Amino acid sequence: MTTPLAAEIKALIATDGPMPVGRYMALCLGHPRHGYYMTRDPLGARGDFTTAPEISQMFGELIGLWAVATWQQMGAPAAFRLVELGPGRGTLMADALRAAGLVPAFGAAASLHLVEMSPVLRARQADTLKAVAPRWHDRLEDVPDGPAIVIANEFFDALPIDQFVRGPDGWHERRVGLDGEGRLAFGLDPRPFPALAALAAHFPRPHDGAVLERLESGPVHALAGRLAAQGGGALVIDYGHARHGFGDTLQAMKDHRFVDPLAAPGEADLTAHVDFAALADAARAVGARAFGPLTQGDFLNRLGLDARAARLTQAADAAQRTAIAAAQARLAGSGEGQMGALFKVLALGGPGLGPPPGFAAEEEWTA
Ligand SMILES: C[S@@+](CC[C@H](N)C(=O)[O-])C[C@H]1O[C@@H](n2cnc3c(N)ncnc32)[C@H](O)[C@@H]1O
Repeated sequence: MTTPLAAEIKALIATDGPMPVGRYMALCLGHPRHGYYMTRDPLGARGDFTTAPEISQMFGELIGLWAVATWQQMGAPAAFRLVELGPGRGTLMADALRAAGLVPAFGAAASLHLVEMSPVLRARQADTLKAVAPRWHDRLEDVPDGPAIVIANEFFDALPIDQFVRGPDGWHERRVGLDGEGRLAFGLDPRPFPALAALAAHFPRPHDGAVLERLESGPVHALAGRLAAQGGGALVIDYGHARHGFGDTLQAMKDHRFVDPLAAPGEADLTAHVDFAALADAARAVGARAFGPLTQGDFLNRLGLDARAARLTQAADAAQRTAIAAAQARLAGSGEGQMGALFKVLALGGPGLGPPPGFAAEEEWTA
């Protein structure tokens, strides 16, 4: 399928040469006119994928209670920033704020800041959250100073990654270029990429053909640097791996199916698995504490998913009870198609923050 963005990317390649995977991803997702997120609301059954907050209100509610307990642990500051990175339809935040309403002082102290690049989703969020008057920002760096509680569910997987492939003479950058018939195709920069040596040193010994992925460090440094300097806590929830490893995890999804990442630029969601070890290392390097990652299943169970499901079930009819049980299994189960083991939860905090709710002292990241 050819798309307006494919034509633009091909023209760029024809003039400038093959582009790094990260640049391709950034264009596919965030191109001002044709970027995937700039032109649509991709969530839900009729969209391309669904996310935990869209599966059940229990997800956002438990995160709301986590935020209240973290705020209390921070010493209950009279004013703080409640920030969400990539809030989608605003569902998580609406559920979180409803649950957090149990402690009115939390809501009175919070000012709500949403970091969102999509105009379509900003409009959706404005509607969902109209009662609480959020402010929007393009980047976390634009959120006013102050202690913060930051939530990021399926945000880091949407950030561009670069990829490198191991050859006999070192690492080579993977690029998107054109094949003999003018179609988009992956290739390798023939020159080795020596700047990767420091990062690769953290990894196991690479075999020929090993793929190493590197997330740009800007967003995690901004998040962790802010917590280190101004205090607060953050939850990063995403699919990914707890330890460094090799592998090509770039994936494209359309209509709830995996598709070729080069087939329809701007029309399919592009993501990569999050390397939580790299996130934790990058956060600690700028002075933040990192806890976990826990599996999403362990995290939700520790926060009381069972009790919340039981409470909702009391007032439910038979069909609703079945739906609640199915949602609980999907969020926390570890079987095929369930999120409980695939998704991980990493907590970050300023130097003064002890283990946040759900995390234990021995789960501080020390690798
Ligand atoms: C996969 S959706 C997750 C939405 C929501 N957190 C949820 O769980 O339903 C990714 C979200 O991040 C936003 N996003 C992706 N990349 C972004 C970027 N670089 N800056 C700001 N927002 C971004 C998208 O527009 C969308 O709101």
